[in-house]
Amino acid sequence: MTNQPSCAIVIFGATGDLAKRKLFPSLYNLFKNGNLSHRFSVVGVARRKWSNDYFRERVIEAVQEASGETVSEEEARSFSEHFYYHPFDVTDTASFTSLKQLLDQLDHTYDIPNNRLFYLAMAPEYFGTIALHLNEAELTNVDGWKRLVIEKPFGHDLPSAEILNDQIREVFKEEEIFRIDHYLGKEMVQNIEVIRFANAMFEHLWSNRFIANVQITSSESIDVGDRGHYYEKSGALRDMVQNHMLQMVSLLAMEPPINLSTEEVRGEKVKVLRSLRKITKDDVDQYVVRGQYGPGEVDSTEIKGFRENEKVTDESNTETFVAAKLMIDNHRWAGVPFYIRTGKSMTVKSTQIVIEFKDLPMNLYSQQHVSLGKNLLTIHIQPDEGITLQMNVKKPGSNGETTPIAMEFSKKSALKMNSPEAYERLMHDCMLGDATNFTRWDEVAYSWRFIDPIAEHWQVKKEAFPNYAAGTMGPEAADQLLAADGFHWWPIKNVENNTVVSGKALDDQ
Ligand code: BG6
Repeated sequence: MTNQPSCAIVIFGATGDLAKRKLFPSLYNLFKNGNLSHRFSVVGVARRKWSNDYFRERVIEAVQEASGETVSEEEARSFSEHFYYHPFDVTDTASFTSLKQLLDQLDHTYDIPNNRLFYLAMAPEYFGTIALHLNEAELTNVDGWKRLVIEKPFGHDLPSAEILNDQIREVFKEEEIFRIDHYLGKEMVQNIEVIRFANAMFEHLWSNRFIANVQITSSESIDVGDRGHYYEKSGALRDMVQNHMLQMVSLLAMEPPINLSTEEVRGEKVKVLRSLRKITKDDVDQYVVRGQYGPGEVDSTEIKGFRENEKVTDESNTETFVAAKLMIDNHRWAGVPFYIRTGKSMTVKSTQIVIEFKDLPMNLYSQQHVSLGKNLLTIHIQPDEGITLQMNVKKPGSNGETTPIAMEFSKKSALKMNSPEAYERLMHDCMLGDATNFTRWDEVAYSWRFIDPIAEHWQVKKEAFPNYAAGTMGPEAADQLLAADGFHWWPIKNVENNTVVSGKALDDQ
């Protein structure tokens, strides 16, 4: 299979933020690095009445803004010449007919073998309508392949996700639908499988026999900014937990697939989601903690509370933070809590996974009243990428005293490269037809099935918000969730120098 796919890419919502910040720069990198054939076209579709020239200038601007290094003017121009703009009304059939004419013509101009990628980067309420119109106007009637890339949110609960899925399935087969979860494009999220299945030393220990608990933190220091309107309805549970957090849980907990093919990997992941212990309305308070930030300080800058956001109501009951204890009721994981937490306006931006191993059955050193550090495997997803393994060694110069040290592997310093952006990788996969790192329908369905009872409970039960100050790691109840089991959150650390960026340092534990 060629590594340089040739296709027409239609971006619905081409004047939006996602197209500008992620899609154009990712396509540019693919183009620059020879991962995209020169036989391609991009048609930007949106309501505004832009011209091709104006659109191309915006594309060049976006590429330049995204790139830390200077982009060659000539290369950026030759890239932007593949871009066309098509002003559009989603509900008007004539818009689709003229889009088809444009695409047919561009296939001819660029010698594209009638392959089409439709990227829906716009308000989800139009996803179904667009799919139906694409079909009616025969835009999906192609000699090559057709694929639909769909951004989240994929519904706001199970029934709405089912309706949406039925609509798009009338036009696209499951294997033609690429539901994006951009966390699956992150270098270190993809590394979870490699760490587990390519190393003899971890997989044997990867179970309730040796692991005490697993902690996944995805904290953000930014507040909801101008996304208040969307966020007020979504909240952290739907925005982050239903997708990114549960996807990371699946990768950490899945059984080894029989091979790395798309369906085998996704088949194993879905089994984890099926094994999640259901959290009923009656046990939400025992397993899940929600928070909403009030005023505070992040990085010495004063931040207003969530309710002060102009697009949010004064008495908003929406959560901007979630911590939860997930139990996976299968043979491998019975009894091991998977703690997750995520939120806005927290101390730092960081995604980190900590695997805490159980203590040794007999501890010679603690008999001497010397406490042993825990063995921890930390996978640093972002901003720094790497792995640390904490173990105990002899304290230099001492007589039988131990001290915890961390063995670090920082991807950036070891491999001397910047990882490609998640979107770059995912767009490339999609053009190559590899859906492994996209969410299959049953994964979406099981995730909503897990989330819905929690969301429903929260909708009717008000919480005393705000309950954490901006710039902190969430409400106290999130600490108590672990304390009740005899655990605590491990600090967020920087992999390159092993310094604590949030939480208590090792010595204070
Ligand atoms: C998105 C959420 O899916 O993920 C955002 O809608 C969130 O609210 C973002 O900020 C976080 O992504 P990342 O890659 O910055 O961790």
